[in-house]
Amino acid sequence: MMEFDDIETVAVLGAGSMGHGIAEVAALSGFEVNLRDVKEEFVQSGYDDIEWSLEKLAEKERITDDAADDALARVTPYVDVEAAVGDADVVIEAVPEKMEIKKEVFADVEEHLPEEAIIATNTSSLSITELSEVTERPERFCGMHFFNPPVRMQLVEVISGGHTAKETLEVAEELAEAFDRTPVRVHKDSPGFIVNRILVPLMNEACWMVSDKSATMREIDSATKFDMGLPMGAFELGDQVGNDVTYHVLEYMHEVLGEAYEPAPYLEEVVEDERYGKKTGEGFYDYDGDGPDIPTDAGTDEIEHRLVAVMANEVGTLVAEDVSTPADIDEAVMLGAGFPDGPAKIADEVGLEALVETLEELGEETGHPRFEVSEGLREAAAAGGFHGGDDDDGVEFTNIEIRRPGDMVGQIVLDREARMNTITPDLLDEFDEALDLLETDDEIRSVLVTGTGDRAFSAGADVTSMASSAEPLEAIELSRHGQRVFGRLEKLGMPVVAGIDGFALGGGAADPHRRLRPRQGDRLHRRPVRPRDDVRLRRRQ
Ligand code: 3HC
Repeated sequence: MMEFDDIETVAVLGAGSMGHGIAEVAALSGFEVNLRDVKEEFVQSGYDDIEWSLEKLAEKERITDDAADDALARVTPYVDVEAAVGDADVVIEAVPEKMEIKKEVFADVEEHLPEEAIIATNTSSLSITELSEVTERPERFCGMHFFNPPVRMQLVEVISGGHTAKETLEVAEELAEAFDRTPVRVHKDSPGFIVNRILVPLMNEACWMVSDKSATMREIDSATKFDMGLPMGAFELGDQVGNDVTYHVLEYMHEVLGEAYEPAPYLEEVVEDERYGKKTGEGFYDYDGDGPDIPTDAGTDEIEHRLVAVMANEVGTLVAEDVSTPADIDEAVMLGAGFPDGPAKIADEVGLEALVETLEELGEETGHPRFEVSEGLREAAAAGGFHGGDDDDGVEFTNIEIRRPGDMVGQIVLDREARMNTITPDLLDEFDEALDLLETDDEIRSVLVTGTGDRAFSAGADVTSMASSAEPLEAIELSRHGQRVFGRLEKLGMPVVAGIDGFALGGGAADPHRRLRPRQGDRLHRRPVRPRDDVRLRRRQ
């Protein structure tokens, strides 16, 4: 069995929008990368995309010019399969999302790949078990599902197939961590895994709304981007992912999971016209000019409610089918799609009873099975919410976590990994309250402050939330608020230590008494999925 430390060469099959991005991530992390596609022009285009992206990252000072040059030098383009995989330790496959195409590729790869090497598929939805069975190494086969664009999205879903060995999953997780990504393990090989089971129905519902003329594309994108605060509008996201990809994923879900996943006519139309999105220059929007022109104020509550209801229904199904828990779904969607909050939390905030009603009304109006209320949603609604609404002793902290890593130590973890633990008014409120709790707890004699994830301690104030507020006064207020709350650290009657691993910028560098600087290469080890069962204090009412 291949050990993680033995991995030097990663072969990436498919140089399209995911393949080139995965190859880039691997090269940036110091691996030798063999990038392969079926035609010279495809592999060249993927190579050019990597070059463009590396330049962009350097231009934005996310990496140095030298790191960009070194990464590009580690990528070798190939058309010949034998040459591409003959010396590979790991293969990551990112060819088109069709079962038959992928099976053919694996059969071909199996002939030339060293015996101990691991195969990972970047499929967005297809059965890992079924794919693994065309190889002679189903125990060394798993899913490693990246998100578009891989260089910017933090999550990798690591999926076990029916035959995958535990050691294979561990190596895949270590590899994802070495790629500077956060792995989340998916135990159940079900279509769309976790994140696509939320995102794809969301994008499909956006298309249904256009098809049945209940809203326009720009109204829907305005609601998703500016009212719900998602990083992109639903259609803008579709264009980013590729409408052909979304369509294939939906077709597969439709086939395996049933009629609720029928692709909307508007999506079919766009795919028939070969308007695949950003990568082809035209999708829902036209990319010749400045790209999507989304108005800031055209959203309505009705649109938002309908989309949240559809997502809540999916969360309910995933929970009822034991695919995942609301906490893990929220974490995965925040890391994989940059949501400011997870879908279960967003749904809880709107109120599950109201969302059930919305689904029932839409079901009656349209007669479509996608509005059938899932058992999991009904159960969560009866319990008062996905996140323990039956919990009378208070609301959970959502921007920070409090832990007790040892006797007498209270740890505050800044917990906004998808946003580099940036500081918002809500985070400050929770931090303030956490200090109240720790200060009045007789058993606590020192405080440790850390940031979750391994990219940032805290990248300072959340400038996106500041930029979207039209009021400069709000930025000043946030700064004052921050000074007051962090100022409390200096006056606290016990030692405060900050464990800094990664960026500590702006407000995130606010000085506690002492700061521990990690030694070079000394990273806080992070388990793939944050343990949810450790001691967590709950916010008092
Ligand atoms: N490499 C380098 N730079 C890139 C890039 C890439 N691959 N893609 C975009 N950029 C550049 C842009 O060109 C732009 O540069 P410009 O300002 O000079 O025009 C810049 O990045 C934009 O970055 P910013 O940080 O300024 O902008 P944002 O804060 O909006 O971040 C984003 C961009 C991270 C893509 C953000 O919009 C986001 O999180 N979007 C959500 C994407 C998402 O949900 N992905 C998952 C989809 S689901 C999936 O992939 C699964 C599949 O199986 C279907």
